[in-house]
Amino acid sequence: MDTKGNQFLRNMVPNIVMIDRNGLKRYIVEIHERDFKDVKPRELTIKTVKGKANVIIGPRRAGKTYYLFHLMREGGREREDYLYLDFEHPLFYALTPKDFPKILDMYEELYPGRKPILLLDEVQAVPDWERMVRYSLDIGSTVYVTGSSSRLLSQEIASHLRGRGLTYTLMPLSFREYLDFRGIKYRGRDAYGNYPLIVRSLEEYLRYGSYPEIALVEDEGVKLRILKEYLDLVVRRDVLERYRPRNRRLINELIYFSLNSYSRYLSFDSLYRLFKRRGKLTKRTLINYVRYLEESFAIFLLERYSPSVKERIVAPRKLYLVDTGYGNFGAKDISRDMENAVFLELFRWTSAHPLRRIYYWRSRTDHEVDFVLVEKGKIAELLQVSFSLSGERTKSREVRSLLKASRVLGCKKLEIITWEEEGEEELEWWGNRGKVRFIPLWKWLLKIG
Ligand SMILES: Nc1ncnc2c1ncn2[C@@H]1O[C@H](COP(=O)(O)OP(=O)(O)OP(=O)(O)O)[C@@H](O)[C@H]1O
Ligand SMILES: [Mg+2]
Repeated sequence: MDTKGNQFLRNMVPNIVMIDRNGLKRYIVEIHERDFKDVKPRELTIKTVKGKANVIIGPRRAGKTYYLFHLMREGGREREDYLYLDFEHPLFYALTPKDFPKILDMYEELYPGRKPILLLDEVQAVPDWERMVRYSLDIGSTVYVTGSSSRLLSQEIASHLRGRGLTYTLMPLSFREYLDFRGIKYRGRDAYGNYPLIVRSLEEYLRYGSYPEIALVEDEGVKLRILKEYLDLVVRRDVLERYRPRNRRLINELIYFSLNSYSRYLSFDSLYRLFKRRGKLTKRTLINYVRYLEESFAIFLLERYSPSVKERIVAPRKLYLVDTGYGNFGAKDISRDMENAVFLELFRWTSAHPLRRIYYWRSRTDHEVDFVLVEKGKIAELLQVSFSLSGERTKSREVRSLLKASRVLGCKKLEIITWEEEGEEELEWWGNRGKVRFIPLWKWLLKIG
């Protein structure tokens, strides 16, 4: 039920909502007794800061809840030191922040003298949940918060918690995590011993994407079925239910467009011209709808690098999907998947540090560089993604763009990610000179070499 519905119920039945004490105690103990041995570690590391809640956001089904489970398993404390509460559990139906201290009392009765680390899941189910979090921080507790992306927008969290939350984004699996989930070793010599297996896994990773659940099932039909379900979930729950857009057909068309145009340019102007022909539409609506998809973590839009802020804003974006598996429902193709996977890995890189940014670059003469990596205000690297450079034309196109950008942007670190070509070359084009490194995608994703 949505927040409004909850509100309505509470107004109707003022004081009769009471916590089922026994039920709650059973719930707390049951979680402590649960077997978490199938819960696998993730790369996201959170450093707890006193007085701040750790807020985990991210796409649906990325593993946020399991991240909390993993903390219980190996967070460095005894299992009983954690209090995991899933506010969508029927036990907490119609709960308000006022009832929250009672839950803590009940924990105290079970474990006298212990102060729990709070793991609060699906917090959006409690109206004014931020009061609960602030209260917990005030009494000195360590708090982790997560929930469904549809109601927990990062900006909203920041404003609700009034600066008392630090936000972390958990994405679907990196390729390293994917291999770990599938039990394939790649560290040290194993990278070479297991080379055929790793490359086959990379093909699968690109084809079916990187959701944890997908990594854990073998059957192709099942994988696709799960993906379809996830996609519907994002569209239905995260976009349609949250934003209640009037033009539902347009949302579906934008999804269709995204599935067919990932790793390509998205220009609001041309998109507007395309959709306007099919019915009444303002550009504002179109921009808003695209933003809904972005806020729901269905798509990502990459800006062009330019010293001029204005140009950055008006230039077309590049569109990437949250998961390459969704490409199965659109125009799937290995080159796009490679570029999209590189984008997602770079997105993880930016999420790990507040002073990292990524852009694409394009010159007036249409030289293009897929990714410009910026760190602490300086351009750190220029990156191209190209399946193969065996065609002389492809190679010269990619290389020329890199060399040109290298001069214009003053960056000497140049890389081309390929499927299998590897090496380093000193290259020159019209007086633009530079050393270009070629690296296969699997190595780049695994950070080898
Ligand atoms: N660390 C993990 N170890 C093992 N399996 C995992 C892990 N993370 C996720 N999974 C699998 O993926 C599924 C979805 O994960 P989870 O429920 O944690 O996602 P979520 O981000 O909380 O999703 P939602 O936004 O829908 O609440 C789990 O049911 C489990 O099968
Ligand atoms: Mg969850």
